[in-house]
Amino acid sequence: MTSQETARVAVVGAGGIGAAAHLPAVQSLGDEAQLVAIVDLDADRRAEAGNRFGCTDLYSGIEEMLAAKRPDVVALATPPHLHEAMAIEVMRAGAWAYCEKPLTGSLASADRIIAAERDTGRWCVSVSQFRYAGGSQQAYAALRNRRWGRPLIGVAHTNWYRGPEYWDIPWRGKFRTEFGGATTTQAYHAIDLLVWLMGGDWATVSGVADTLARPIEVEDTSAAVVRFQSGAIASLLSTVLSSRQETHLQVTTERATLGLDTLYLPQQDEWSVRQLDGEGVTRIVDDWPEPEPPLEVNAHRAQLRGILAAWREGRRPDVTAADARSTLELLTALYKSSATERSVARGEIAQGDPFYDALDAAGPSRKQAIVHV
Ligand SMILES: NC(=O)c1ccc[n+]([C@@H]2O[C@H](COP(=O)([O-])OP(=O)(O)OC[C@H]3O[C@@H](n4cnc5c(N)ncnc54)[C@H](O)[C@@H]3O)[C@@H](O)[C@H]2O)c1
Repeated sequence: MTSQETARVAVVGAGGIGAAAHLPAVQSLGDEAQLVAIVDLDADRRAEAGNRFGCTDLYSGIEEMLAAKRPDVVALATPPHLHEAMAIEVMRAGAWAYCEKPLTGSLASADRIIAAERDTGRWCVSVSQFRYAGGSQQAYAALRNRRWGRPLIGVAHTNWYRGPEYWDIPWRGKFRTEFGGATTTQAYHAIDLLVWLMGGDWATVSGVADTLARPIEVEDTSAAVVRFQSGAIASLLSTVLSSRQETHLQVTTERATLGLDTLYLPQQDEWSVRQLDGEGVTRIVDDWPEPEPPLEVNAHRAQLRGILAAWREGRRPDVTAADARSTLELLTALYKSSATERSVARGEIAQGDPFYDALDAAGPSRKQAIVHV
């Protein structure tokens, strides 16, 4: 592969996030990417996306598209229960997959995707767009360089609101097709970003997850405490019932507190760093972050650019299935902790544990308990 090579990119799923983020991202990449096909089961969606993004190669099925177009990279913006099969099919066809979150619905499934990466020599990258949004990479670098000392305390509170109509889309709200609710679907981004910023070394989780007010199987709210190997502690709150409509992230280190107050797409100016001066007065650190260009289009694009650079250079991209598995394991541990009413350690959910085969293995029984309330 040469550095000039243009990647042939296909997008599967032209629904909500496919049309809002993936297709504009591919289209905006100029010489780096060529949109070679759009796949969607729904004929109207396909046609509409084709018109809007100037693509005439439209398919109803991924198999036919892979055989006809031989793409280099395939963005998967389909419902969660289709991710595993599609990602493996993409890699077996010789392409890299760029798959929406949650990557898949169980650790067993994640391990099958990792095995397919190994067998095919291709990669499956999980969408983690908060890591690529404004300021995130600088926050990561500052924390890794210990600019303000070691991370000690983390907060990721996703206070989002979804009214009942949100679940009109049939795959949403159900264990079989969505796998998990507020934690896995909405708070995924903030949790993934926080754990990455804290260094990724989470060790135990104690949590509760429940369905408090929406007519859905999956949880609409969860809360958890995470302990890291370093000793650091984090608080997670994930809900779709909050009228505040905000995402709040915080990392307190030995000498400062980083904060991010955003909603769906962090911007650089939504980050701040506070420190106490000699008199005990809190002041905002004004030389951080360094100015960076505003996000063009969306953070999916920033991540896709990174994938294409790795593809051109023939090296491993960031956030492959193994990285996504770490976040998935933390979410699974949260659900298991809620079901068993005890803390769950990293590594304990292995083959033979029902939670190895299903993200929220306690799902239906939890729902039955709610029905009796
Ligand atoms: N990263 C983010 O910010 C973000 C935001 C929203 C959704 N998502 C994730 O993206 C995925 C899709 O969510 P959405 O809200 O866009 O869903 P959606 O239902 O709006 O769109 C999914 C599209 O996939 C198509 N589809 C379904 N089965 C197909 C098949 N077998 N072959 C081809 N096309 C098929 C549907 O027709 C639909 O157009 C989910 O995993 C969701 O969690 C991510």
